[in-house]
Parts: sequence; C-alpha cells; structure tokens
Amino acid sequence: MSNAVCIGAQWGDEGKGRIVDRLSEQADVVVRFHGGNNAGHTVVVDGVTTILHLVPSGVLHKDKLCVIGPGCVIDPEVLLQEMEMLSARGLLDLGAGAGGPRLVIADQAHVILPFHKRVDKAREAAKGTRKIGTTGRGIGPAYEDKAARRGLRVHDLVEPDRVAEFVRHGVMYANSVLEALDGEVYRGEELEHMIARLREQGQKLKPCVDDAGARIAEAHAAGKRVLFEGAQGALLDLDHGTYPFVTSSNCLAAHASVGSGVGPNLLGRVLAVLKAYSTRVGEGPFPTELTDAQGEALRQKGGEFGATTGRPRRTGWLDLVALKYAVRINGVTDLAITKLDVLAGFGDIKVATAYDVDGVRLKNFPHDVRTLNKVVPVYQTFPGFDGVPERIASLDDLPPAARRYLGFVQESLGVRLSIVGVGPGRGQELVLNDVLA
Ligand code: GDP
Ligand code: IMO
Ligand code: MG
Repeated sequence: MSNAVCIGAQWGDEGKGRIVDRLSEQADVVVRFHGGNNAGHTVVVDGVTTILHLVPSGVLHKDKLCVIGPGCVIDPEVLLQEMEMLSARGLLDLGAGAGGPRLVIADQAHVILPFHKRVDKAREAAKGTRKIGTTGRGIGPAYEDKAARRGLRVHDLVEPDRVAEFVRHGVMYANSVLEALDGEVYRGEELEHMIARLREQGQKLKPCVDDAGARIAEAHAAGKRVLFEGAQGALLDLDHGTYPFVTSSNCLAAHASVGSGVGPNLLGRVLAVLKAYSTRVGEGPFPTELTDAQGEALRQKGGEFGATTGRPRRTGWLDLVALKYAVRINGVTDLAITKLDVLAGFGDIKVATAYDVDGVRLKNFPHDVRTLNKVVPVYQTFPGFDGVPERIASLDDLPPAARRYLGFVQESLGVRLSIVGVGPGRGQELVLNDVLA
C-alpha cells in the first residue's frame, strides 16, 4: 500500500480538487499541506458543485480523515464558514463522533489575521501596474509574519490569554505598513473587536486542533493510505515559480513532507495534474497566452473564471517547456490530464515545444521573468477533434486525434498517463493506473 502527492503542474486551477476527490476513494487520510484560502478546489458530485478553500477535497467521502497541515495558513473565519457549510450538508460532524472529529487542524499552522488581508490589498493597490494580482486573502503577509517569527499559530489562537498579546504585537507592524501605504490603521474599538472575535473563533476550532504530523504518521503506521493535496501549482511556487508573480508558499511535491510534518519517505508517488491547455489568473508571464477571440472562446468553453475570486482566467495553449520543468522539479511519476473535452471543436490545437529568445533556442525554462517575457514559443500543431464522450471506459472511446494529442503530451513528459478528465463531474474521468496502489 502506498501514499501519493497530488500537485498542480501549471499556474493552479488544473482540476486538483476533482482528482483528489476521485483518488480519495482509495485513500484513508487526505492532507492539505500549504497555502490557504487563496485556493479554490472544485468538486462536482451528482450535479452539486462544492468549492473547497481549506478543507481537503477528500471531505466529500464521509469516512476519510481530513488534515489541514502545519504548512498551511488559516483564516479562521473562512475555515469556520466552510466547516459550517459541510456540517449543514451532513458531511462533517462538528459535535464530533465517537472517534473524535475527522477534521484535524495542525496546531503549528499559522493564522491569517484581519490585518494581513488589509495589508495584502493595500500593497497591491499601491503597486498599481506592478501588482501581482493576489487573491487579497492575506496569504503573503501571513507567511511574512511566520518568517519574521511573530506569527500567531493555531495553538496560540486556542489560548484566549495569548491572543491579545500576539495581535497587539502584529498590529504594530501592520499599522506601520498601512500608514506608509495610506491605508487605514487599526486602533481602539476595531482592535478590541478583532481580539474578541479571534478568541471566539479559537474556541470553536479547538476540538479539531491536534498534532497533524503525529496523526498522519500514526495512520500510516496502521497501514492507512495517505493522499497529500497540493494547492496552486509548480509555476506559482515561491522559489521555483515565475517570481515575483508567485504565491508565498512552496507548492512542489517535496513540500508535502515539510508542510505535513512527516518524513519524505512517506510521500509515495507524485501525480501532476495539468489541463489540456494553460490558464493563469493574476499577473505575470504567460508565454503561450491567447489574447484573441480563440483565448476568449477557451475561457467561455472551459468556464475559466476563478473559483476563489471569480476573476476571468487568462487562457492559452499547452506549454511543454514549462511542463517539463514542472515534471523535473516535482519528481512527477504520474500525469492526470483534465479538461480534454474543452478542446473538442476547437479546430487545430497548438502545443509549445520550445522557447527561443533573440533567435536562440533555450535549453531550460528560464527563472528570470524578464527572459520569460521575451521568449517566443515554438509551436507544433495537431489536428483538432470533435465529440469527446461524457464518460469514457478506455482511451479507445476517444477520437483518434484526441488520443494522438494525449500520446504526444505523455511521451514528451516521459511519465505514465494515469488519469484523463473529460468533464467536471465525479466519474467523468478515466483512471488508467491506480496511483495509490
Ligand atoms: P483546482 O484549483 O486545481 O482544484 O481547480 P479549480 O477547481 O479551481 O478549477 C478547475 C475547474 O475545471 C473547475 O471548475 C472544475 O469543475 C473543472 N474541471 C475539472 N476537470 C474537468 C474536466 O475534465 N473537464 C471539464 N470540462 N471541467 C473540468
Ligand atoms: P488553486 O489551489 C490559481 C495566484 C493569484 C496570484 C498569485 C499570488 O485553486 O489552484 P496569493 O493570493 O496567493 O498571494 O496570489 O497566485 N493564485 C492562484 N491561482 N489557483 C490558485 O489556487 C491560486 N492561489 C493563488 O491569482 O496570481
Ligand atoms: Mg482553483
């Protein structure tokens, strides 16, 4: 029995949520290991759409242990809303059944405080045209406070005596930034109200708070299968993505270990989820972007609007240079290609197979955004296809041109193709290999 890590291979929104939902059938424990509610993971079951921002996408299977790991940043207000939504649908027992709550919140995870969100938005506004296009959820400022060693962790949040001290200290720094950016500072009643609310939220979350790493290791030792659910994507990784147009956490598979509190020997296979084309939400380089009518058609047909902010996603062709990089830096063993159905009826399909800069072919995906902004993608064109069935039982059910496209992508990336998505709903995927076998 094995574990697996599921990560995004592009700029996020590859369909990780629906793939994790499917793989959760075989898993016993599902762990989110980084990021916060900048993520929006969509799962569609029997026509009902659920968007999860913090709770792992395994939660729609009632018997799975769901863990929000120490590498995450948690907005207590958003998490409580999500927990209440799941509880109202009978998916989460907040009163906790006999075995305790099946949602575990890592005591070491950091808390996103209201001033983190205000700083995030004020900074973006001040940057004007140089903005990153963040989700405005306070992710960057929360991770900054973590690195500055003044962050409030979940084990502090549940201790009412500690909350005030931490918040007053944090606000001092946030106010200095807000003042410099002409933002609204926190003082008086607003500050006291924030402290009181956080204390309340801490008490509501307390029954779920535990040592996440120990719980995962214990389950693993008992022969349970663990699935690690990444957020965002390789190209948004803080170190390896298109810096500075990235998020503030590490999104790569290796981080599943650090962000969960378990050793890397526990991780198992690495499944990369990629769309059959590319999207990006927010600013930053996007070499294969389509800014024309075809790009708009892809956005409309693919429903490419952010699951977290509702912003239109930028769209473009598949980029094998970026994907080869993602495969290498993640140690990918398996591919899940989603949204193949969206390409049906598009006519010829292009794939970027190389980058040129000033007439010179690049060997690798460049790390410097200035270079990346200059690259000219070299395309290979494939005949389009029509009529992808709503469900498929084997690759033979696909039009030959769709099979050729998948085959080319798989061969170029050099790892096995394990899942193909032909629609958003549970069951609208073909599983070719058992990733958790
Ligand atoms: P995530 O952040 O990686 O979990 O992805 P999102 O949920 O943000 O975005 C993926 C979107 O594509 C969601 O609306 C999914 O319902 C949808 N989706 C996922 N897989 C497929 C697929 O194979 N076909 C189609 N048509 N939609 C899909
Ligand atoms: P999931 O898990 C797509 C993008 C933002 C912005 C940049 C930094 O659903 O794939 P942040 O708020 O994190 O500081 O924003 O990262 N971003 C995402 N884009 N999917 C996501 O998550 C994202 N999470 C952050 O749009 O460009
Ligand atoms: Mg998403």
